[in-house]
Amino acid sequence: MIILGIESSCDETAAAIVDSEKNILSNIVFSQIDTHKGYGGVVPEVAARSHLSSMPYVITKAIGTSKVSLSSLDGIACVTGPGLYGGLLVGSITAKAMSFALNKPFISVNHLEAHILTPRLLGNIPFPYLALLISGGHTQFVAVLSVGNYKILGTTLDDALGEAFDKTARLLGYDYPGGKHIEELAKHGNSASFKFKPPLLYTKNCNFSFSGLKTAVSQKIQSLQSSLSLTQQVKADIAKAFEDAVLAVLRKKTCLAIQKFKEDHGIFRNFVVSGGVAANKNIRALLNKIALDNNANFCAPPINLCGDNAAMVAWAGIERLQANSTDSLSTIVKPNFALEDVK
Ligand code: KG4
Ligand code: ZN
Repeated sequence: MIILGIESSCDETAAAIVDSEKNILSNIVFSQIDTHKGYGGVVPEVAARSHLSSMPYVITKAIGTSKVSLSSLDGIACVTGPGLYGGLLVGSITAKAMSFALNKPFISVNHLEAHILTPRLLGNIPFPYLALLISGGHTQFVAVLSVGNYKILGTTLDDALGEAFDKTARLLGYDYPGGKHIEELAKHGNSASFKFKPPLLYTKNCNFSFSGLKTAVSQKIQSLQSSLSLTQQVKADIAKAFEDAVLAVLRKKTCLAIQKFKEDHGIFRNFVVSGGVAANKNIRALLNKIALDNNANFCAPPINLCGDNAAMVAWAGIERLQANSTDSLSTIVKPNFALEDVK
């Protein structure tokens, strides 16, 4: 089975060809980061126009690189949500037009579903397993029970973890997306200089809250600006304190989520992390250790499959097609498409 996947939910225009033997035959990602840099975040209308102009090139390149003919495709999978309306429309109209013209099934894929199924593209991970999705828009513990059956064990009550990284980076004077800048800064920071309270550390559930942490960083920066200048070392110390608070709360909540998963399913064999923030090495190392302490396997995708890409969409399309789940061409895009609403 060979599937073309298309992703355009945020600021990456991406297309990929993946087969059911788990070969990624092509994986083309056109990032709009430079386009949005000056705005401090993604501008929806600008993103939609950029998707429109790059989509033909990205798809043509994905097909050409894979050396697969259009007629040998078994279906076209496309993200229909969650995400920005204009971008979702560009991707889904393109996918539906191709599906109609080639007479191949159209497969609607939830963007979050694609992230949490990625580890199955990379290895042999049977259901059920526990996933932690940490991206720019979402922070969720998910019990992945089967294709289309996802149970949320915990979520963020306000900002997503990636958003907290991005806002903290911005306060320190770094461009969007800020996660990698914070990671780099924190490497040179001193843990003893500042401390931020890990949010919701003592609540006995798997929910997160990150907006207070961002406010604490903002207040610290303001107080420092009036006394001493924000030197590179002070910035590194703040980034380190931010990362330490994030690691502390991730440690606590992951242990609670594992406990809940064990109670619900009796076994806990595989723990996976996905989403852009999963690129962070300290976070990966922490989660890996927690999995090992619980005698479970840990799977974190390689960096290029952590962030948004279309190989994950093509793979989710394969999983859905193998489960006989295809969609009509009248399927609408859903900017707020929740994982719980996936069938
Ligand atoms: O999954 P993704 O590419 O897009 C969404 O679906 O949101 O995630 C993007 C997020 C951004 O917030 C970015 O700052 C964060 O992932 N990120 C990181 C790192 N690399 C990317 N956060 C922390 N450390 C990193 N190394
Ligand atoms: Zn994503």
